[in-house]
Amino acid sequence: MADIGIDLGTGTTVVCHPRDGVVHDEPSVLVEWPTRRGRELLLGTEAAALEGRTPPGARVGRPVRGGAVTDLSLVRTYLHELLRRTSRSRWRARRPHAVLSCPVDATPLERRALVESAEEAGLGHVDLLPAPLAAALGCGLDLTDARVQAVADIGAGTAEIAVFCRGTVLTRRSCRHAGDEMTTAVRTHLREQHGLHLSDAAADALKVGASSTREPLAAEGRDAATGRPRVVTVEVAEVEAAVAPVVRRAVAALGAFLEDLPVAGVPDLFAGGVVLAGGSALAPPVRDDLEAALGFPVKVPERPRTCVAEGLALAGGRPARDIRPA
Ligand SMILES: Nc1ncnc2c1ncn2[C@@H]1O[C@H](COP(=O)(O)OP(=O)(O)OP(=O)(O)O)[C@@H](O)[C@H]1O
Ligand SMILES: [Mg+2]
Repeated sequence: MADIGIDLGTGTTVVCHPRDGVVHDEPSVLVEWPTRRGRELLLGTEAAALEGRTPPGARVGRPVRGGAVTDLSLVRTYLHELLRRTSRSRWRARRPHAVLSCPVDATPLERRALVESAEEAGLGHVDLLPAPLAAALGCGLDLTDARVQAVADIGAGTAEIAVFCRGTVLTRRSCRHAGDEMTTAVRTHLREQHGLHLSDAAADALKVGASSTREPLAAEGRDAATGRPRVVTVEVAEVEAAVAPVVRRAVAALGAFLEDLPVAGVPDLFAGGVVLAGGSALAPPVRDDLEAALGFPVKVPERPRTCVAEGLALAGGRPARDIRPA
């Protein structure tokens, strides 16, 4: 039985223990802060709060971009620090068995790089499971079911969909049009239409805010002309219009799976629907546009942001032959 499921995402890292549930859900950021004796490592929320505020000599790193490992030594240091913070004390004596997420289209080289970095970081044995299959497990689907099932995962750096039957992927699509690109679109809109420079964090907060209210939102930034601080009121419809082209690109790329969907799978997907996981699933236009493009019902699970990690923690308890990604 595995000890830990780690969903190392572009934006967020979620760690789940099979018994304790989610024990870590924080931004995937590591800061090496210079000190007189060497360096101090800061990780997650604490590290993300320092982005753009670090002194010379500090290093700010994000271990994953667009679902792929950026820098092997950074991933090693990040995972080592993550394990130190999230491991139960009894694990410290041994190397825990982990299941990590990877993109559904990860190449053998990318998979090997991730497994090796994770093992060097202190994990005993590492298995990988593509994020959409992990999300399926995490929201209670049976991977071994003989019916055709489809799960999409739209996160920060990647959007992907896998269609599978009895644990085997039949078809899949992925692209890089996801949450980070939507955030960039919001930043660009504010700069071009309101003359306001926003930080990435402020643009992301505006985008996230627009998914849960119809009330106008306040954006705090720097005036592009004068450089002075300024607050601008932004309508939700404006934010939705700014992200709409990115959503359309993501939906078009994922929807292309219909070209290779076996016709026998159509009744199965009408009955079961397409599950939509990942943080960007929380933006209502993403779900609505995907449903309109596919013609199948699209269902957002109860915990779309953490269901991948929850599935990874469950997957470790299953025999490896039950997990047969393409
Ligand atoms: N309520 C919300 N409305 C809109 N977007 C949201 C909401 N909550 C989170 N997001 C977005 O979801 C993204 C993060 O999702 P998630 O944690 O699934 O990504 P990730 O796993 O880190 O990335 P990836 O899987 O692409 O490597 C961010 O772009 C964030 O802005
Ligand atoms: Mg993810």
